[in-house]
Amino acid sequence: MKLQDKVAVITGGVSGIGAKTAELFIEEGAKVVLVDMNAEKGKAFEAELKAKNADVLFVEANITDEEQVKNIFKETIAKYGRVDVLFNNAGIGRVQPTEDLEYSEWRNTVNVDLDGVFLVAREGIREMLKTGGGTIVNTASMYGWVGSPGSAAYNAAKGGVLNLTRSLALEYATRNIRVNSLAPGFIDTPIIPEESKEQLRSMTPMQRLGKSEEMAKAVLFMASDDSSFMTGNTLTVDGGYTAQ
Ligand SMILES: NC(=O)c1ccc[n+]([C@@H]2O[C@H](COP(=O)([O-])OP(=O)(O)OC[C@H]3O[C@@H](n4cnc5c(N)ncnc54)[C@H](O)[C@@H]3O)[C@@H](O)[C@H]2O)c1
Repeated sequence: MKLQDKVAVITGGVSGIGAKTAELFIEEGAKVVLVDMNAEKGKAFEAELKAKNADVLFVEANITDEEQVKNIFKETIAKYGRVDVLFNNAGIGRVQPTEDLEYSEWRNTVNVDLDGVFLVAREGIREMLKTGGGTIVNTASMYGWVGSPGSAAYNAAKGGVLNLTRSLALEYATRNIRVNSLAPGFIDTPIIPEESKEQLRSMTPMQRLGKSEEMAKAVLFMASDDSSFMTGNTLTVDGGYTAQ
C-alpha cells in the first residue's frame, strides 16, 4: 500500500483522469476527498465508492471561487484532520481559432486552468505546512511543453502550470512539500469530443489514445514516497507525442 491512511484531495475527481486516480489511491489505502463542480456526478461517484467500502467525501466546489476553494479544505480538515496529497487536476479545454476567441473565453480558460490551480495549491500548502508537509501533483498537459493551433488560452495556461509547479517546488523544497506535474497526451476521457478521437489517435506516435488508468499510475508515483527525491518536475505521459 503506497498511500496507507493518507488523506488525498483530488479536484476534477469524479470524471476521467481524476476519477481513475481516486480509485487507484483508494486501492493504495488512501482516504479520498473528491472535489468537483458537477454535484450530480460527484454524489453518484461518492455513493458508488462508499458501496465498495471506500473512505471518501465529496465536496462540491468551483475551483475559480476563492471561498469555495477554502471550503474544500475546511470540510477536509473537519472530516480527516489533515491533507497529505493534493491532486490538483480539474481543468477545461476547448479548440477555437484565436481570431474568434472572445476575451471572456480566454479569461474563463485561464481562470480555471491556471488561477484555479493556484488557488487550490495555495490552500493545500497552507494545510500541509501545519502538519509537516505533503505532496502536490498539478495536471498540466503536453500542450504546456509545445504549442498547437486553436488552443492559445489552454496552452498558455498549461505552460503556466509547469512553471508554477517549478516555482512552488523550490519555495517549499525545505519544508517537506514536493510539487510535481503530470503532462498527459491525448487521453480517452469526456473532455475529448467523440468526433475528434480518430484524429487525435492518428496524431499520436503510439497510434492510440491514452487511458485514465495510465495517468493514475504516474500520479501515484509522484504522490507517493516512490518519488521521494523528485520535485519541481513533470512526468509527460503522451504516447510519444512530444518526442517528435
Ligand atoms: N483528456 C486529455 O486528453 C487531457 C490531455 C491533457 C491534459 N488533460 C487535463 O487533465 C485534467 C483532467 O481532465 P480529464 O481529461 O479527466 O477531463 P474530464 O472532463 O473527464 O474531467 C475534468 C473534471 O474537472 C471538472 N471541472 C472542470 N472545471 C471545474 C471547475 N472550475 N471547478 C471544479 N471542477 C471543475 C469537471 O466537472 C470534470 O469532472 C484537466 O486538467 C485536463 O486539462 C487532459
